Amino acid sequence: MDATALVETQHAELLRLFDRAAEHEVPSARWALFERIADQLAMHLSIEEQLFYPAIAVGELDRWLLSADDDHRSIRTLLGQLVDLDPSVPRFDALLAILEDEVRRHVAFEEREILPRARTTFSGDELEQLGAEMGALYEELVGGTAHGPLAAEPSGPAGPP
Ligand SMILES: [Fe+2]
Repeated sequence: MDATALVETQHAELLRLFDRAAEHEVPSARWALFERIADQLAMHLSIEEQLFYPAIAVGELDRWLLSADDDHRSIRTLLGQLVDLDPSVPRFDALLAILEDEVRRHVAFEEREILPRARTTFSGDELEQLGAEMGALYEELVGGTAHGPLAAEPSGPAGPP
C-alpha cells in the first residue's frame, strides 16, 4: 500500500475508535476502547516519526513537518496523562475529549497539508516502497503491544444503532 494511503487508513481507524468510545458510557467499556486508541495511536505516531516523516522531509515538506512534530508531542503528553487516570473520574472524559480534538485536528492537517505534498513530491514507486516499510514496522509493533489492535472491543454500542 502506498505510504499516504496507509496513513489515511490508520487515521480512519483511529477516528472510528473515537466514535465508538463516544457511544459507551460505562467506564470499563470506555477504558477498553481507550486502550485500543492508545495502542493504535502510539503505533501510528511511531511509524510516522521513525519512517514516514524522515523519508518525506525534503523542501517545503520539512517545514510543514515541524508543525506535525508539535502535534505529536502534545498527543503523547495527553496519552501519558490519560493512562494514569481512573476512567470513572470526570477528568478522564475531559482529557479524552481533548485528545480526540487534538487527533482530529492533526489528522485534518496531515490530510490537507502533508499527504497531498508527499504525493506530488514522490513517485508512486517511492511511496509504495515506503508504505511497505511502514506496514512491516506496524506488524512488528502490533506483535509487541500488550493488548494488540485485535483485542476485543466491548460488544455493541450503548444506545440504538
Ligand atoms: Fe499522524
